[in-house]
Amino acid sequence: PLVTTADLIGPARKAGRAVVAFNVITLEHAEAVAAAAERTGLAAVLQISENAVRFHGGDLSAVAAAATAVARASRAPLALHLDHVVTPELVHAAHAAGFGSVMVDASRLGYGDNVKATAEAVRWGHARGMWVEAELGRVGGKDGEPPLDAHAPGARTDPAEAAAYVAETGVDALAVAVGSAHAMTERTAALDHALIAALRAALPVPLVLHGSSGVPDEDLRAAVRGGMTKINVGTALNTAYTGALRAHLAAHPRTVDPRRYLAEAREAMTATAARFLTVVAGGGSA
Ligand code: G3H
Ligand code: ZN
Repeated sequence: PLVTTADLIGPARKAGRAVVAFNVITLEHAEAVAAAAERTGLAAVLQISENAVRFHGGDLSAVAAAATAVARASRAPLALHLDHVVTPELVHAAHAAGFGSVMVDASRLGYGDNVKATAEAVRWGHARGMWVEAELGRVGGKDGEPPLDAHAPGARTDPAEAAAYVAETGVDALAVAVGSAHAMTERTAALDHALIAALRAALPVPLVLHGSSGVPDEDLRAAVRGGMTKINVGTALNTAYTGALRAHLAAHPRTVDPRRYLAEAREAMTATAARFLTVVAGGGSA
Protein backbone atom coordinates (compact mmCIF):
# COMPACT_ATOMS: atom_id res chain seq x y z
CA PRO A 1 0.00 0.00 0.00
CA LEU A 2 0.87 3.65 -0.43
CA VAL A 3 1.95 5.24 2.86
CA THR A 4 3.78 8.47 3.67
CA THR A 5 7.43 9.01 4.52
CA ALA A 6 6.32 10.44 7.87
CA ASP A 7 4.38 7.20 8.57
CA LEU A 8 7.61 5.25 8.13
CA ILE A 9 10.19 7.62 9.62
CA GLY A 10 8.41 8.45 12.90
CA PRO A 11 8.15 4.86 14.21
CA ALA A 12 11.60 3.98 12.79
CA ARG A 13 13.24 6.82 14.70
CA LYS A 14 11.49 5.85 17.94
CA ALA A 15 12.68 2.26 17.53
CA GLY A 16 16.24 3.20 16.50
CA ARG A 17 15.71 1.73 13.04
CA ALA A 18 16.16 3.28 9.60
CA VAL A 19 14.14 3.34 6.39
CA VAL A 20 15.82 2.92 3.01
CA ALA A 21 14.79 5.37 0.28
CA PHE A 22 15.61 4.26 -3.27
CA ASN A 23 15.93 6.61 -6.23
CA VAL A 24 13.53 5.73 -9.03
CA ILE A 25 14.30 6.66 -12.63
CA THR A 26 12.29 4.14 -14.67
CA LEU A 27 9.18 2.05 -14.07
CA GLU A 28 11.49 -0.96 -13.62
CA HIS A 29 13.26 0.79 -10.73
CA ALA A 30 9.93 1.21 -8.91
CA GLU A 31 8.90 -2.38 -9.65
CA ALA A 32 12.26 -3.66 -8.39
CA VAL A 33 12.01 -1.74 -5.10
CA ALA A 34 8.45 -3.00 -4.59
CA ALA A 35 9.56 -6.58 -5.24
CA ALA A 36 12.51 -6.19 -2.83
CA ALA A 37 10.26 -4.73 -0.13
CA GLU A 38 7.85 -7.65 -0.54
CA ARG A 39 10.68 -10.18 -0.59
CA THR A 40 12.18 -8.84 2.66
CA GLY A 41 8.91 -7.89 4.36
CA LEU A 42 10.24 -4.36 4.86
CA ALA A 43 8.88 -0.91 3.97
CA ALA A 44 10.72 1.48 1.65
CA VAL A 45 10.54 4.92 0.11
CA LEU A 46 10.34 5.43 -3.66
CA GLN A 47 12.02 8.74 -4.30
CA ILE A 48 12.16 10.66 -7.52
CA SER A 49 14.77 13.38 -7.88
CA GLU A 50 14.35 16.64 -9.75
CA ASN A 51 17.06 15.32 -12.09
CA ALA A 52 14.92 12.26 -12.84
CA VAL A 53 11.90 14.49 -13.47
CA ARG A 54 14.02 16.52 -15.90
CA PHE A 55 15.00 13.27 -17.66
CA HIS A 56 11.29 12.58 -18.17
CA GLY A 57 10.77 15.96 -19.82
CA GLY A 58 10.30 18.14 -16.74
CA ASP A 59 6.75 17.03 -15.96
CA LEU A 60 6.39 14.97 -12.79
CA SER A 61 2.97 13.55 -13.57
CA ALA A 62 3.78 10.48 -15.70
CA VAL A 63 6.61 9.13 -13.54
CA ALA A 64 4.62 9.97 -10.39
CA ALA A 65 1.57 8.11 -11.69
CA ALA A 66 3.69 5.04 -12.41
CA ALA A 67 5.34 5.07 -8.98
CA THR A 68 1.98 5.66 -7.27
CA ALA A 69 0.40 2.72 -9.06
CA VAL A 70 3.32 0.47 -8.10
CA ALA A 71 3.10 1.56 -4.45
CA ARG A 72 -0.67 1.06 -4.29
CA ALA A 73 -0.44 -2.42 -5.79
CA SER A 74 2.39 -3.52 -3.47
CA ARG A 75 1.91 -5.77 -0.45
CA ALA A 76 4.73 -3.82 1.24
CA PRO A 77 4.30 -0.28 2.61
CA LEU A 78 5.84 2.16 0.11
CA ALA A 79 6.02 5.95 0.37
CA LEU A 80 6.57 8.49 -2.41
CA HIS A 81 9.13 11.26 -1.94
CA LEU A 82 10.47 14.02 -4.19
CA ASP A 83 14.27 14.18 -3.83
CA HIS A 84 16.79 17.04 -4.28
CA VAL A 85 14.35 19.73 -5.41
CA VAL A 86 15.73 23.12 -6.33
CA THR A 87 12.64 24.39 -8.20
CA PRO A 88 9.77 25.44 -5.87
CA GLU A 89 7.13 24.75 -8.56
CA LEU A 90 8.13 21.09 -8.44
CA VAL A 91 7.23 20.95 -4.74
CA HIS A 92 3.78 22.20 -5.70
CA ALA A 93 3.55 19.57 -8.47
CA ALA A 94 4.59 16.86 -5.99
CA HIS A 95 1.82 17.87 -3.62
CA ALA A 96 -0.68 17.85 -6.48
CA ALA A 97 0.56 14.38 -7.49
CA GLY A 98 -0.07 13.02 -3.98
CA PHE A 99 3.50 12.95 -2.63
CA GLY A 100 3.62 13.21 1.16
CA SER A 101 7.21 14.41 1.37
CA VAL A 102 9.94 16.37 -0.36
CA MET A 103 13.62 17.13 0.09
CA VAL A 104 14.35 20.77 -0.69
CA ASP A 105 18.00 21.09 -1.58
CA ALA A 106 19.28 24.62 -1.02
CA SER A 107 22.68 23.33 0.08
CA ARG A 108 24.43 25.09 -2.80
CA LEU A 109 23.46 28.43 -1.25
CA GLY A 110 25.20 30.19 1.62
CA TYR A 111 23.79 29.64 5.12
CA GLY A 112 21.42 32.62 5.16
CA ASP A 113 19.97 31.97 1.70
CA ASN A 114 19.67 28.24 2.45
CA VAL A 115 17.66 29.08 5.62
CA LYS A 116 15.43 31.50 3.71
CA ALA A 117 14.66 29.15 0.80
CA THR A 118 14.15 26.15 3.07
CA ALA A 119 11.97 27.96 5.61
CA GLU A 120 9.75 29.16 2.78
CA ALA A 121 9.38 25.61 1.41
CA VAL A 122 8.68 24.30 4.93
CA ARG A 123 5.95 26.92 5.47
CA TRP A 124 4.33 25.99 2.17
CA GLY A 125 4.65 22.24 2.75
CA HIS A 126 3.53 22.20 6.38
CA ALA A 127 0.41 24.18 5.51
CA ARG A 128 -0.48 21.21 3.30
CA GLY A 129 0.60 18.40 5.61
CA MET A 130 3.85 17.61 3.83
CA TRP A 131 7.02 16.27 5.50
CA VAL A 132 10.06 18.30 4.46
CA GLU A 133 13.71 17.24 4.44
CA ALA A 134 16.56 19.70 3.77
CA GLU A 135 20.35 19.65 3.59
CA LEU A 136 23.03 21.55 5.46
CA GLY A 137 26.67 21.00 4.62
CA ARG A 138 27.47 19.58 1.23
CA VAL A 139 27.21 15.94 0.25
CA GLY A 140 29.32 16.04 -2.92
CA GLY A 141 28.99 14.28 -6.25
CA LYS A 142 25.66 15.77 -7.40
CA ASP A 143 25.07 16.35 -11.12
CA GLY A 144 28.49 14.94 -11.95
CA GLU A 145 30.25 17.75 -10.05
CA PRO A 146 33.86 17.04 -9.07
CA PRO A 147 34.23 15.36 -5.68
CA LEU A 148 34.47 17.84 -2.81
CA ASP A 149 37.33 17.81 -0.39
CA ALA A 150 35.51 16.18 2.54
CA HIS A 151 37.76 18.08 4.95
CA ALA A 152 37.21 21.53 3.44
CA PRO A 153 35.40 24.02 5.70
CA GLY A 154 31.65 23.74 5.14
CA ALA A 155 31.90 20.31 3.50
CA ARG A 156 30.91 18.57 6.75
CA THR A 157 27.80 19.56 8.70
CA ASP A 158 28.59 21.46 11.88
CA PRO A 159 26.37 20.31 14.80
CA ALA A 160 25.88 23.77 16.36
CA GLU A 161 25.08 25.35 13.00
CA ALA A 162 22.74 22.44 12.20
CA ALA A 163 20.84 22.94 15.47
CA ALA A 164 20.31 26.62 14.61
CA TYR A 165 19.32 25.67 11.04
CA VAL A 166 16.68 23.18 12.19
CA ALA A 167 15.24 25.73 14.64
CA GLU A 168 15.18 28.51 12.03
CA THR A 169 13.71 26.45 9.18
CA GLY A 170 11.36 24.03 10.96
CA VAL A 171 12.45 21.08 8.79
CA ASP A 172 11.25 17.56 9.62
CA ALA A 173 14.55 15.83 8.81
CA LEU A 174 18.07 16.86 7.94
CA ALA A 175 20.46 15.50 5.33
CA VAL A 176 23.95 15.82 6.76
CA ALA A 177 27.43 15.68 5.26
CA VAL A 178 29.35 13.10 7.29
CA GLY A 179 31.77 11.62 4.75
CA SER A 180 29.55 10.07 2.07
CA ALA A 181 29.33 11.36 -1.51
CA HIS A 182 26.82 10.85 -4.30
CA ALA A 183 27.32 8.60 -7.31
CA MET A 184 30.05 6.36 -5.90
CA THR A 185 30.29 3.07 -7.79
CA GLU A 186 32.61 1.54 -5.21
CA ARG A 187 31.87 1.18 -1.53
CA THR A 188 34.86 3.03 -0.19
CA ALA A 189 33.31 5.96 1.73
CA ALA A 190 34.51 6.34 5.31
CA LEU A 191 31.84 7.85 7.55
CA ASP A 192 32.65 10.12 10.46
CA HIS A 193 30.80 8.25 13.21
CA ALA A 194 31.82 10.72 15.92
CA LEU A 195 30.20 13.49 13.87
CA ILE A 196 27.03 11.38 13.38
CA ALA A 197 26.82 10.93 17.16
CA ALA A 198 27.35 14.66 17.74
CA LEU A 199 24.65 15.55 15.19
CA ARG A 200 22.25 13.00 16.68
CA ALA A 201 22.77 14.57 20.11
CA ALA A 202 22.45 18.15 18.84
CA LEU A 203 19.36 17.77 16.63
CA PRO A 204 15.71 17.09 17.46
CA VAL A 205 14.93 15.70 13.97
CA PRO A 206 15.79 12.47 12.11
CA LEU A 207 19.10 12.44 10.20
CA VAL A 208 19.33 11.44 6.54
CA LEU A 209 22.35 9.80 4.90
CA HIS A 210 22.74 10.65 1.21
CA GLY A 211 25.13 8.88 -1.12
CA SER A 212 24.70 5.56 0.69
CA SER A 213 25.65 3.47 -2.36
CA GLY A 214 29.32 4.13 -1.58
CA VAL A 215 29.11 3.20 2.10
CA PRO A 216 30.30 -0.27 3.19
CA ASP A 217 27.82 -2.55 5.01
CA GLU A 218 29.43 -2.27 8.43
CA ASP A 219 29.50 1.54 8.20
CA LEU A 220 25.86 1.57 7.17
CA ARG A 221 24.86 -0.53 10.16
CA ALA A 222 26.99 1.63 12.46
CA ALA A 223 25.41 4.77 11.00
CA VAL A 224 21.95 3.40 11.78
CA ARG A 225 23.00 2.48 15.31
CA GLY A 226 24.45 5.99 15.62
CA GLY A 227 21.17 7.66 14.69
CA MET A 228 20.67 7.81 10.91
CA THR A 229 16.96 7.30 10.17
CA LYS A 230 16.73 7.61 6.37
CA ILE A 231 19.27 5.93 4.12
CA ASN A 232 19.25 7.13 0.49
CA VAL A 233 20.40 4.66 -2.18
CA GLY A 234 20.47 5.46 -5.88
CA THR A 235 23.65 4.60 -7.74
CA ALA A 236 23.79 1.00 -6.49
CA LEU A 237 20.52 0.27 -8.34
CA ASN A 238 21.90 1.84 -11.51
CA THR A 239 25.12 -0.14 -11.22
CA ALA A 240 23.08 -3.36 -10.96
CA TYR A 241 20.75 -2.34 -13.81
CA THR A 242 23.54 -1.38 -16.19
CA GLY A 243 25.71 -4.36 -15.31
CA ALA A 244 22.89 -6.81 -16.07
CA LEU A 245 22.07 -4.98 -19.28
CA ARG A 246 25.71 -5.05 -20.47
CA ALA A 247 26.04 -8.74 -19.62
CA HIS A 248 22.84 -9.62 -21.47
CA LEU A 249 23.72 -7.66 -24.60
CA ALA A 250 27.25 -9.06 -24.68
CA ALA A 251 25.93 -12.62 -24.39
CA HIS A 252 22.97 -12.09 -26.76
CA PRO A 253 24.02 -9.67 -29.49
CA ARG A 254 20.85 -10.41 -31.50
CA THR A 255 18.37 -9.38 -28.78
CA VAL A 256 16.01 -6.61 -29.84
CA ASP A 257 13.08 -7.07 -27.42
CA PRO A 258 13.81 -4.76 -24.44
CA ARG A 259 11.80 -7.06 -22.17
CA ARG A 260 14.60 -9.63 -22.44
CA TYR A 261 17.26 -7.37 -20.92
CA LEU A 262 14.97 -5.20 -18.80
CA ALA A 263 13.73 -8.31 -16.99
CA GLU A 264 17.34 -9.10 -16.05
CA ALA A 265 18.11 -5.48 -15.17
CA ARG A 266 15.00 -5.32 -12.97
CA GLU A 267 15.87 -8.57 -11.19
CA ALA A 268 19.42 -7.29 -10.57
CA MET A 269 17.99 -4.11 -9.02
CA THR A 270 15.58 -6.18 -6.91
CA ALA A 271 18.44 -8.26 -5.52
CA THR A 272 20.48 -5.11 -4.77
CA ALA A 273 17.56 -3.32 -3.12
CA ALA A 274 16.77 -6.41 -1.02
CA ARG A 275 20.40 -6.56 0.16
CA PHE A 276 20.38 -2.90 1.22
CA LEU A 277 17.05 -3.36 3.00
CA THR A 278 18.41 -6.38 4.86
CA VAL A 279 21.70 -4.71 5.83
CA VAL A 280 20.01 -1.56 7.05
CA ALA A 281 17.49 -3.65 9.01
CA GLY A 282 20.47 -5.09 10.87
CA GLY A 283 21.43 -8.38 9.31
CA GLY A 284 23.25 -9.72 6.28
CA SER A 285 25.72 -7.99 4.02
CA ALA A 286 25.10 -6.22 0.73
O1 G3H B 1 19.33 11.43 -2.81
C1 G3H B 1 19.80 10.38 -3.29
C2 G3H B 1 20.87 9.65 -2.64
O2 G3H B 1 21.66 10.51 -1.92
C3 G3H B 1 21.53 8.59 -3.48
O3 G3H B 1 22.95 8.66 -3.55
O4 G3H B 1 23.19 7.56 -5.75
O5 G3H B 1 25.14 7.90 -4.29
O6 G3H B 1 23.39 6.22 -3.66
P1 G3H B 1 23.71 7.51 -4.35
ZN1 ZN C 1 21.16 12.66 -2.30
